Amino acid sequence: MEWTTLNNDVNMPMLGLGVYKVEDGSVTFDTVKAALDAGYRLIDTAAIYQNEESVGRAIRESNVPREEIFVTTKLWNEFHGFDEALQAFEDSLDRLGLDYVDLFLIHWPMPRFGKFVETYKALEQLYEEGKVRAIGVSNFEVSHLEQIIQSCSIVPAVNQVEIHPYLSQKELIAFCQRYDIQIQAWSPLMKGREALTDPVITDIAARHGKSPAQVILRWHLQNGVAVIPKSVTPSRIQENIQVFDFTLTKEEMAAIDGLNRNERTGSDPNEMHKIHY
Ligand SMILES: NC(=O)c1ccc[n+]([C@@H]2O[C@H](COP(=O)([O-])OP(=O)(O)OC[C@H]3O[C@@H](n4cnc5c(N)ncnc54)[C@H](OP(=O)(O)O)[C@@H]3O)[C@@H](O)[C@H]2O)c1
Repeated sequence: MEWTTLNNDVNMPMLGLGVYKVEDGSVTFDTVKAALDAGYRLIDTAAIYQNEESVGRAIRESNVPREEIFVTTKLWNEFHGFDEALQAFEDSLDRLGLDYVDLFLIHWPMPRFGKFVETYKALEQLYEEGKVRAIGVSNFEVSHLEQIIQSCSIVPAVNQVEIHPYLSQKELIAFCQRYDIQIQAWSPLMKGREALTDPVITDIAARHGKSPAQVILRWHLQNGVAVIPKSVTPSRIQENIQVFDFTLTKEEMAAIDGLNRNERTGSDPNEMHKIHY
């Protein structure tokens, strides 16, 4: 496993398990346990995934010490605002049954609400109080990040955004790298859709004796992008972490970069205004 050092000196694994749409209860519990057994040390959940309780239970009951696991959760859109964010964090912590969270993210900027700066200030307070080891954002575009950097004292440690071969987000990545904000890709496998069967990807995979998913994850990592692939399938959970034993050539990286078509599978951050899912 590769780790990265965030801008506040906290170490974060470059690869973790995402648990969006993983059913609460035994499915989430077994999936997190399988990931920890396979060597994963980062679990990415969110209040809106409604599985924080099972994630927390799997972590508490695992043989891996809590301090070796990096736990991310996120503040849902309904709870923008200073006091609301503080309360939402306590509620997540209660559901997780943990003493602290490693990374707490604002899930979406919700620009129409105009409250993400105030909300981020609550995250700064949680950080100062030692309840979170790092704070950051998700789905923030350059303009949103600029407002945070201008108005707040802590530069976000992470920006988690949609990235895959059909949505490469080069400009946003470059901006974040300038400010030492670690980019983390959500839907890194394009939710299991076309990118996995693209001939450019399958050809490179055949050349390396790797799967298309492994090639895509490797491409992210070599771009300096952290990844949180989701799978509830034990063999895929194992497959997705076997990406540290091969290297894509410059030409292969360029060929995958060339697939970009700015195609989102999720919402545009400037248009997202959903409170309920
Ligand atoms: N911040 C945000 O707004 C946001 C939004 C979306 C997601 N996320 C986070 O990012 C995580 C990952 O994104 P995602 O779940 O949308 O999509 P993803 O990880 O790109 O893709 C998951 C899909 O790909 C399949 N899959 C996994 N490994 C595979 C492999 N090796 N070969 C073939 N298919 C494979 C999975 O199937 P099976 O599970 O059936 O194996 C699942 O259907 C989420 O779980 C969540 O933690 C964050």
